[in-house]
Amino acid sequence: MKQVKVGIIGCGNISSIYLKNLKLFKSVDLVAVSDIDLKRAEAKAAEFGIFRALSPEKMLKDKEIKIIVNLTVPKVHKEVAMAAIRAGKSVYNEKPLAITREDGKKIITSAKKKGVLVGCAPDTFMGAGLQTVRRIIDSGEIGRPVAATAFLMGAGPEGWHPNPEFFYQKGGGPLFDMGPYYITALVNLIGPVKRVTSSAQISFKERIKGSEPKKGKRIKVEVPTHVAGVLDFKAGAVGTIIVSFDVKAAGLPRMEIYCEKGTISVPDPNTFNGPVKIKRSNKGEWEDIALTYGYSDNSRGLGVADMAYALMSGRKHRASGELAFHVLDVMQSLHEASEKGKHIMLSTTCAKPEAMVKGLKAFELEK
Ligand SMILES: NC(=O)c1ccc[n+]([C@@H]2O[C@H](COP(=O)([O-])OP(=O)(O)OC[C@H]3O[C@@H](n4cnc5c(N)ncnc54)[C@H](O)[C@@H]3O)[C@@H](O)[C@H]2O)c1
Repeated sequence: MKQVKVGIIGCGNISSIYLKNLKLFKSVDLVAVSDIDLKRAEAKAAEFGIFRALSPEKMLKDKEIKIIVNLTVPKVHKEVAMAAIRAGKSVYNEKPLAITREDGKKIITSAKKKGVLVGCAPDTFMGAGLQTVRRIIDSGEIGRPVAATAFLMGAGPEGWHPNPEFFYQKGGGPLFDMGPYYITALVNLIGPVKRVTSSAQISFKERIKGSEPKKGKRIKVEVPTHVAGVLDFKAGAVGTIIVSFDVKAAGLPRMEIYCEKGTISVPDPNTFNGPVKIKRSNKGEWEDIALTYGYSDNSRGLGVADMAYALMSGRKHRASGELAFHVLDVMQSLHEASEKGKHIMLSTTCAKPEAMVKGLKAFELEK
């Protein structure tokens, strides 16, 4: 099978799982890694047996590399993506696509002009758990969704992440950091959002770093860390979302979809796995649903592999820029709704991504 040559920019915390998986996907040939801190790139190249560690400038000049996987911190996602696009390369960003709607739009329109593709994490919605939920909804066996809930109730990442500052700067916070998993999953299951409102706040002005290095360092909080929002979907369902870094303990489910004839308990959208459960209105017990799709392990990079197929065949890719731009618009609009004290009508939309194919071989996406 033909492959697309791929390079990674950004060799921090999340890069290891991409390096591990991108070496295995059949549509991808991972040829080089890069970081503004070249030593980090060299260390990852040595650890994962990648032939070349390059500066970002050198990587962008390499004619063979067709996709740049952008694993830098959110505030430079746009700058790195735009440099890749200018160099004539398709780009796959880690989430969020960018930290403002305007930056997201620039990435999308520039890529279109240049004739290259944009993709974006998360790709967890392509995994076995969320695809099994998608099949239940698409089959209509428990009717159409009338409502949904999504809850990320946590105490923040400064206790474990070695460089947690970016989580509290513009482009971070629970909404821009964790919201993409929940909102992307909801859009994949129910379709695009048409209107949102919310209340958001900074509950604590400072956070204390609990991880090494610089344990005990104070971090100034610049973005809301508790957001309670409402999403009106075009298809008619109403979603309730709470994302928080300010909660010490909670007992809420991750996600539930309430349909006309029953409820689906949806797995954690930050994973590729289950469990998936249904409570049908005519049955007394919750029913465990077997996962009927591949990719139940941590398959980060699946969206990149899918984009490589799209580049080779001209078909659409699932974790697309269009989807991520809509999710970015939902997130920014949730913040704006709270600031302005009103509902916001969204200016973007997107198509539901294609469902995954059943019975795929490991590390392939097409039969
Ligand atoms: N850490 C996680 O568990 C996790 C999980 C899922 C997604 N993500 C996302 O992945 C992205 C990266 O997160 P991380 O945790 O790996 O951060 P990190 O700070 O550990 O790593 C980021 C890397 O990018 C490099 N970098 C920064 N600016 C650059 C530039 N202009 N050019 C080239 N390299 C540059 C840094 O030197 C660093 O090595 C973020 O968007 C984050 O939201 C992280």
